[in-house]
Amino acid sequence: MKRRDFLQYSGMGALGAATASLVAGCGEEAPAVKFWQQGNYRPVDEEVTLTGLKVEGAIPPELTGLYVRNGSNSSTGPAEHFFGGDGMLHGVRLENGRASWYRNRYVDTPVYRKEAGGFGAPKPEDTTSAVSVLYHGGELMALGEFGYPYLIDPQDLSTKGPFNYDGKLPGNMTAHPRIDPASGELLFFGYDVMQPYMTYMRADAQGNMLQVEPVTMTGPSMVHDFAVTQNHVVFMEMPVRFSWMAALTGSALPFKWDDGAPCRFGVMPRTGTDADVKWFDIPPCFVFHIMNSFERGDEVIVDAARYDSLWVKNSHDFFHPARLTRFSMNLRTGHAGVEQLFDRAMEFPQVNRDYWTRSYRYGYSVAVDETNDSPERIAQAEGGLRRYDLQTGETDTFLTGPQQEVGEGLFIPAREHGGAEDEGYLATYLYDRHTQTSAFALFDATRLSAGPICKVPLPVRVPVGFHGLWLPDSALA
Ligand SMILES: [Fe+2]
Repeated sequence: MKRRDFLQYSGMGALGAATASLVAGCGEEAPAVKFWQQGNYRPVDEEVTLTGLKVEGAIPPELTGLYVRNGSNSSTGPAEHFFGGDGMLHGVRLENGRASWYRNRYVDTPVYRKEAGGFGAPKPEDTTSAVSVLYHGGELMALGEFGYPYLIDPQDLSTKGPFNYDGKLPGNMTAHPRIDPASGELLFFGYDVMQPYMTYMRADAQGNMLQVEPVTMTGPSMVHDFAVTQNHVVFMEMPVRFSWMAALTGSALPFKWDDGAPCRFGVMPRTGTDADVKWFDIPPCFVFHIMNSFERGDEVIVDAARYDSLWVKNSHDFFHPARLTRFSMNLRTGHAGVEQLFDRAMEFPQVNRDYWTRSYRYGYSVAVDETNDSPERIAQAEGGLRRYDLQTGETDTFLTGPQQEVGEGLFIPAREHGGAEDEGYLATYLYDRHTQTSAFALFDATRLSAGPICKVPLPVRVPVGFHGLWLPDSALA
C-alpha cells in the first residue's frame, strides 16, 4: 500500500498524513532490493479473460466450481511494500473435467480507482482488499484485513461493492475468518491501531451479525489470524506492534517487533465476553497463520507457523523461517506449552476445512526454501508443497526444483460428504521461470511428491499472491 493509503485506512487520517509530510526526508531506509518487484513477485499489467484452455492430465470431473485466489498487484507502478498493491483475483472455472475460463480482475475499490483519501475521518471502504477470499451467507467476498470486505460476483469476478453486515461491522475485518463446518457460523475479528485494538464478531450461516465484542489488548499488535475450536476462540497478542515512530518516519507498513510487548494467547468461550478471556503468556514469537485448532480434554490446541521473531528492523524482512509448532493452553491449570512439531521451514498452512475446529490428522503447507535468506535470493528460491501426517510424523513433499514456483496449496475435498479426511486435492498456481507463464495445477493430496495430476497452462503470468478458495457450484445460494 502507498503510505498515503495506509494512513487513511489505519485510522490516522489527515493529522497523521500532515505530520508525516513534515518529517519527510528522515524516513526509514528503503531496502536496496525490493523483492516484490523481482521475478514473479512483479504485478501484471492487464486484466484478461481466457477461454479454450488446454488441460494436461485429467481434471477430476466431480470438481465443478470456481478456484479463486487473491493477491497484491499494484496498479500504480512499484508498491512501497509487498502487501501494498491493489487486490487482484485470479480465478479458474472447472466444469465436467474442463477448464472453461481463467480471468484476473482487480478488486474495484476507491483505492484502486484513486478516489480514496481527502481530509476528514478515514473511511473503511478505502482498502485494497488484497489478502483472501471468503464465501459465506451466500456471498463471495474479497478480504483485506483493513477496512470492509468487498462483494464479488463469482460468475465473472467483478466487484459488486463494499459489505458491512447491515452497518453492524464496526471497521476492519480480518482476512482469516473461520467457518464452523457444522453450524455454518462465521467467527472472526478485526484489529486496529486505535482503541478498541481488537473486536470479536460472530455471524450466523445466513450472514446476520450475532455479536460484536471489543476485547481488551495491551496495545496495537498486528493480528493476522485467529483460532476457533468447538467451544472457544483464541486471540493472538504478539510483539509485532504498530509504531507511531515508524509511521511518522515514512514506513510503508509501520509495524515493528517490540521487545517490551507481551506475547500471549487469549482464550474466550465463543459466546463469551471480554471479561471471560483467559490469557496465556508464552515465550516471544510471531505467527501469521494457524493450521488448525481443537480441544483435547482441558486443553485448547493451536497448530501454527511460528517465527522466532519478525520485523525487528522493519516490515520488509521476510527472510526467516517459520516452523509448524503446537501451542497448548490448559484451561484448568493455566499452563501454556510450546512444542515444535516439524523442523522444516514452512508457511501457508492448510487443512481439509471440514476439520476446522476439530481434531485432525493431515495438514498441508508451502515448503519454504531455507536458503532463501535475502531479497536477492528470492527469485531463485526453490519451494514446494508438503503434507504432514500428525499421527505418524511422516511428511510427503513435492519440490519445485529451480524452474518452478508454487503458492498456497488449497485443499479441495474430492467428495462433498463422507470422504476420508485426506481424500481430495491441493489447488495452486505454478509459475515457470523459463516461459514466464503460470498454470493452474491440482495435486492428489495423498501423493504430493508424485507431482500435479493435471495442469491448465495459461499464456499469462499469475504473480505470487496470498490466499485462495474453492467455491463448488453446489454451495452457491
Ligand atoms: Fe494470511
